[in-house]
Amino acid sequence: MFSKDDILRDLATKKIGRKIYVFETIDSTNLCAKTLARAGADDGTVVVADYQTSGRGRLGRSWDATPGSSILFSTVLRPHLREAHAGLLTFFAAVSVARAVEEQTRLPVECKWPNDLLLNGKKFCGILLENSFNGSTLDHSVAGIGLNVEHNAFPGELRHRATSISNESGRKEDRLQLFRRILDQMDQLYPEIASESFERIVDEWRSRCGMFGHAVKVLQNEKKVEGSAVGLSPEGGLILKTAEGTTTVYAGEVTVVPE
Ligand code: BTN
Repeated sequence: MFSKDDILRDLATKKIGRKIYVFETIDSTNLCAKTLARAGADDGTVVVADYQTSGRGRLGRSWDATPGSSILFSTVLRPHLREAHAGLLTFFAAVSVARAVEEQTRLPVECKWPNDLLLNGKKFCGILLENSFNGSTLDHSVAGIGLNVEHNAFPGELRHRATSISNESGRKEDRLQLFRRILDQMDQLYPEIASESFERIVDEWRSRCGMFGHAVKVLQNEKKVEGSAVGLSPEGGLILKTAEGTTTVYAGEVTVVPE
């Protein structure tokens, strides 16, 4: 595991990671960051761990990673955002990670709605955004990010849908360098979210997403919506053209239907 000194050495960020908590083992970096945020932690505070005993994913799932295999961290964000814009922070996190991974590996990174990043069509990174509001404005958000760097033990059916960065790049990746690059990219994009200007971030996210113009299936618990993915709503929902008309979905598991 890298130490706090290792991370801070050469880290040139202004806000993201200036305050950083480093753990060998923790229950979940998101849980810890939420506790810190509720106690008033600074904007940009980061919690990073080598191993999580209760790593959490979207839709109530767990997020498992063996020690030393991944980058597992959460960032406390406190931009003054209207409720309608808070969900767009996922795109901020996704674009930051995509840029950093591309810079490190030179491999093209794809975004998948709502919270995944893919290499060669397989997921290597998931984002869990947990927002807390004060009336109709954001009080704080915790952006939890997990990247499979060397992680290769994908059980059962996941083997066909998940990958790690080193699996795709074909070489051992420097986790510390990549982590610093991600914090750097978040820091560079931060002024845009702080001024509630999401246009460029959302445009870049859209240009990295291959599902527009394709038939998709969105699973939401028991419900299934099918249609053609045509765009993003101002809040970051996925707009679908279905047989019944146009509809927007805000959560769920998307698969592109082979044509
Ligand atoms: C998903 O794809 O379901 C989102 C996964 C998010 C996992 C990360 S790992 C670091 C942070 N701490 C957690 O408990 N979860 C997020």
